[in-house]
Amino acid sequence: MKYYAVILAGGVGKRMGNVGKPKQYLQLGSKPIIAHTVEKFAIHPGFERVLVLTPAEWVENTKDMLRKSVGESDHVVVTAGGEQRNDTVMAAIDWIEQNDGIDEETVIVTHDAVRPFISERIIEDNIAAMKDYDACDTVVPSADTIVVSNDGDEITTIPDRKTMFRGQTPQSFKALKLRELYNSLSQKDKEWLPDACSIFTMRDIPVKLVAGEEENIKVTYPADLRMAQALIAE
Ligand code: CTP
Repeated sequence: MKYYAVILAGGVGKRMGNVGKPKQYLQLGSKPIIAHTVEKFAIHPGFERVLVLTPAEWVENTKDMLRKSVGESDHVVVTAGGEQRNDTVMAAIDWIEQNDGIDEETVIVTHDAVRPFISERIIEDNIAAMKDYDACDTVVPSADTIVVSNDGDEITTIPDRKTMFRGQTPQSFKALKLRELYNSLSQKDKEWLPDACSIFTMRDIPVKLVAGEEENIKVTYPADLRMAQALIAE
């Protein structure tokens, strides 16, 4: 089995507001958020390569930046992502196929560039889960009660909190299986798709849960960046 780390950094970070650059390039302690994330995977011995997918206009800049933080090597590859998050995942699969070759046993461990506090334990558990599954998802139990409202005005239902989890990343997949399932979706389903794991659940293919961590936060809003600054200061 061959494992590739796939760092998803192709977004622009609209919800972060007007900060002059995509949020993954904002400074966190001594280096940009994305450099923290890539380092965690680059030092792990379990991956053939670490693919980093960024907006096309950020590829060169990212190469320069990572050369300084993780050093010059072809183990870490920077290339352009796609318009939607799933397009970025597909771009990673295409890159592997075109450059290294791909087969049924090729696994991608996809991770948000904006989750810099990923632990080695979570990476290990993703790798282990993929020995028995076609897909796995990293989650934490929901501390909050989840309230469902179809119209955003009144409650539709309140599911039992014990069955509710919050999705984090990594999400890991058998790469060819994911692409095959994704390509079989209609354009409408592709646009609706809430999450890459749902491609598997829609087809009743089991997706293993891996325990996440509260610290594995995603930097989405300015408040998350303040939280990340506090965590890095620890
Ligand atoms: N992502 C990606 N390619 C895209 C869109 C998103 O690789 N076309 C990545 C982002 O760079 C981020 C991760 O997916 O690391 C999680 O997505 P999210 O937090 O939604 O990032 P953005 O799309 O950048 O944020 P926003 O929705 O606020 O614009």
